[in-house]
Amino acid sequence: MKRRDNAEGLTILKLGGSVVTEKGALLTPNMPAIRRLAREVSDAGVSPLILVHGGGGFGHPLAERYGIKDGFREPQQLIGFSKTHEAMVSLNRFVVEALVEEGVPAFGMPPSSFTVTRGGRVASIHDEPLRMALSLGLVPVLYGDVTLDLERGFTVLSGDQIAALLAVRFEAKRIIMGVDVDGLYTEDPKINPSARLIRHLTLKDLEEVWGGIRGSSSTDVTGGMMGKILELIPPIKHGAKALIVNALKPGNVYSALKGELVGTEITKE
Ligand code: IPE
Repeated sequence: MKRRDNAEGLTILKLGGSVVTEKGALLTPNMPAIRRLAREVSDAGVSPLILVHGGGGFGHPLAERYGIKDGFREPQQLIGFSKTHEAMVSLNRFVVEALVEEGVPAFGMPPSSFTVTRGGRVASIHDEPLRMALSLGLVPVLYGDVTLDLERGFTVLSGDQIAALLAVRFEAKRIIMGVDVDGLYTEDPKINPSARLIRHLTLKDLEEVWGGIRGSSSTDVTGGMMGKILELIPPIKHGAKALIVNALKPGNVYSALKGELVGTEITKE
């Protein structure tokens, strides 16, 4: 990896589960996409960088089957908690291995081992290992994970929530959300073909187009596009620039990392 220190500060890149896993399939990584994205991350050479990936067909179906998000009710769920975490660990391995093969000093870090939630929201985070990894020049690779929860016993922590939280805490300059659609539209393009892709909007504009934002249709226990936007609001208020880009289209993530405007950009004002 050609490393270029970004004078503008930390970049956080979240790759959605619909990008790194095969849609509708169980426990199937999208290896061509993972390898291509690893190359794009390597070629862009951005540092410091935190990568976060979603669960897709690894995390969501298991979390749903065992009711992990709603918390502990009965001991039979415990095996489901283990299975959901294990599925995410194995997906993380595919992502980390691909990055390492491309020369990116990736470091898989399970959020469940350094965060605790309360009612599904992060209540405490031991961020020292993350800070140390970043200052050495490693690329932490986090993911949506199960967590131990002060109210529910356990729950699911989305990659979007952890990405947004770290963007605020580490004062990230950019948060790039790699998804399977081109960005935000004026209306739902599946319903209205004259819907236009929005290139740039402010938090104020966002309130006006709110009605056009639709959730994704496949199983997602953590909120779809609407949830994503809600998570992005605090980092944007803190001054981070958010980008929603189609990571399934080759070159988009590379361009976004290089600072080009692809997809939809959301800024404070
Ligand atoms: C979900 O992570 C993780 C689990 C279900 C354990 P995300 O919520 O970040 O995943 P995607 O991006 O929506 O698939």
